[in-house]
Amino acid sequence: MATISGKHTSFWIDSTTTTNFPSLTEDVTVDVAIVGGGIAGITAATILKRQGKTVAVIESEEIIKGTSGHTTAKLTSLHQLIYADLIKEFGEEKAKIYADSNQAAVEQVAQWVKEGNIDCDFSRQDNYTFADTAEKLPQVEAEVEAAIKLGLPASLVTETTLPFPVAGAVKFTNQAQFHVRKYLLHLAQQLPGEGSHVFEHTRVTEVEEKDPCEVTTKLGKVFATDVIVATRLPITDAGLFFAKSFPNRSYIIGTYIDPEKAPEGMFIGFGEDYYSFRTTPHNGKTLLLVGGKSHKTGSVSETKDNYLQLEEYTRAQFGVEEINYRWSTQDMVSFDTKVPYIGKLTPLNNHVYVATGFSLWGMSKGTLSGMILADLILGKDNPWADFYDSTRATPFITKQSIQKNLEVGKSWILDRFKGLQDNSFEAVVNGEGKLVTIDGDKVAAYRDDQGILHAVSAVCPHLGCIVNWNDGEKSWDCPCHGSRFSCDGKILDSPAVKELEAYQIK
Ligand code: FES
Repeated sequence: MATISGKHTSFWIDSTTTTNFPSLTEDVTVDVAIVGGGIAGITAATILKRQGKTVAVIESEEIIKGTSGHTTAKLTSLHQLIYADLIKEFGEEKAKIYADSNQAAVEQVAQWVKEGNIDCDFSRQDNYTFADTAEKLPQVEAEVEAAIKLGLPASLVTETTLPFPVAGAVKFTNQAQFHVRKYLLHLAQQLPGEGSHVFEHTRVTEVEEKDPCEVTTKLGKVFATDVIVATRLPITDAGLFFAKSFPNRSYIIGTYIDPEKAPEGMFIGFGEDYYSFRTTPHNGKTLLLVGGKSHKTGSVSETKDNYLQLEEYTRAQFGVEEINYRWSTQDMVSFDTKVPYIGKLTPLNNHVYVATGFSLWGMSKGTLSGMILADLILGKDNPWADFYDSTRATPFITKQSIQKNLEVGKSWILDRFKGLQDNSFEAVVNGEGKLVTIDGDKVAAYRDDQGILHAVSAVCPHLGCIVNWNDGEKSWDCPCHGSRFSCDGKILDSPAVKELEAYQIK
C-alpha cells in the first residue's frame, strides 16, 4: 500500500513555539470564565479584559491546538456559497447581518494586527469560490448577484491564477489570510495578570449556572459571574447543539512550491468533492496549502486514502514532488443554513453562553462570536446578536438534519450489534484498529506496530454510541457527535469529557 507523505502535524503548530501556561492549582474567582482556548474564546477574553473584566481561559490541553490550530486560516466573509441561500432562507435583511458581521470580524482582526503590530503574516488577499464545471456556473452567478445585492465586494471572474481552467468564480476583494497561531498567541500572552488567567491542561467536566456560576475541573473550581463555553461543540448538552449540527472532518496538506507557480489569493471549489487552496510564507519560502476530502466524522475508517488522494491531486495540479505537511481537522456544521449558534446556552440561562456551528469558516465566525458574547456580557447592544441567537427556533426538520440525525439514530441502534463478527483479539493485526466483542463487551482494540495491544471500551462516554476506527489518525471517532479518542482512550475531541474506559485484557 502507498505510504502517506509529509510531517503529520499542523503547519501552524509546527512553526510556533508551544505554550506553557499553568494548570489550575486552587479555586479561583473571576468575572468571566471561558471554556476553550480557540479563536472564539481568546477573542472574547481579549475584549472583556480590555473592558475591565477579569477572565480565566480554561483549556483541556494546550491553547490553539484544536480546530483553530488546524484551520486553513482564511479570514473572509465569502464562505464558499452562502449568500443566495441566506437570502432565500432568511431574506435580505438578515443575510446582510451575516455579511456585515463576518466582514466586521475580518476588520477586527486587521485592526488588532495593526494596533498591536502583531507579526502574524497577515496579508490582504482576494478570495474566490470557483465552479470547476459549466454545470456549476449558475450557482456562482447566483452567489455574485446575491452578494452584490448585500453590498459585498463581489464580482464574477472567469480567469484565475489557479493552474487549471474554471468555468467562473465569485471574487471578493480585500479579504485576508494570516498565521492563526502567531495572531492568537500574541493575544493570549496579554491575558494573564491583574486577576486574569490562562489555564492549560485543565479539563472542565461541568458548568453550572449559580450565583456565582461554577466551572468544575479535575483540578479545582473556577467561580465566575458569567461563563462562555467556546469548545467546538459545547461540552454541556443542555442546549441540544449536538442535534442542531453535525461533526465534519477535512484534510490539509502543505507543500513548498515555486512562488512563480503558486496561485495568488485564496480559493475554494464546491459540490461533492471540492478543494481549497492558499499559500503562506515560511522562512523565505512559499508553502501551498491544499484542503479537501471532507466527510462526516466517524463515517470513514480508511482516512489514509483521503490523504493519498489529496497528495495525488496536488501533484497532478501543481507539479510538486515533495509533500511537507499533512493534518486533518474537525468542525461542527450548523443545520440552520450554516448559521452558527451564539448566545445563551438555553432560554433558561442568564449567565452561561455558547458559540458553535461555525461550519468550516471559524476564523471570521469565531471572531464575531467573541465580539457578540463580550457585548452581551458587558450589557452592550449588539446589532447581530438576535440573528445568531443560540436559543432561536431552529429548523430541526430540514432535509440535512433529518438525514444526519437519522444516521445518528441508526448508528446508535446498529451499534448494539456492532463488533459481533470478531470475538478475539487475534483478529486485530499490527497497525490496525478493530471493534471486537469479548465476553459480551464491545471493545475498541488497536495493535501497534510492535504488536502491543491497546484495548478500551468501544462505547462513547458522551451518549453511548460506538466509536469507529480512523486509520489516518489512529484514533477512535464517534459517528454521533464527533468525540474522538486516542488508542488508549484519551480525549482528542469533545463533547465527551470522559475518556474511553480502559479494558482489562485477560
Ligand atoms: Fe455523542 Fe459519542 S459524541 S455519543
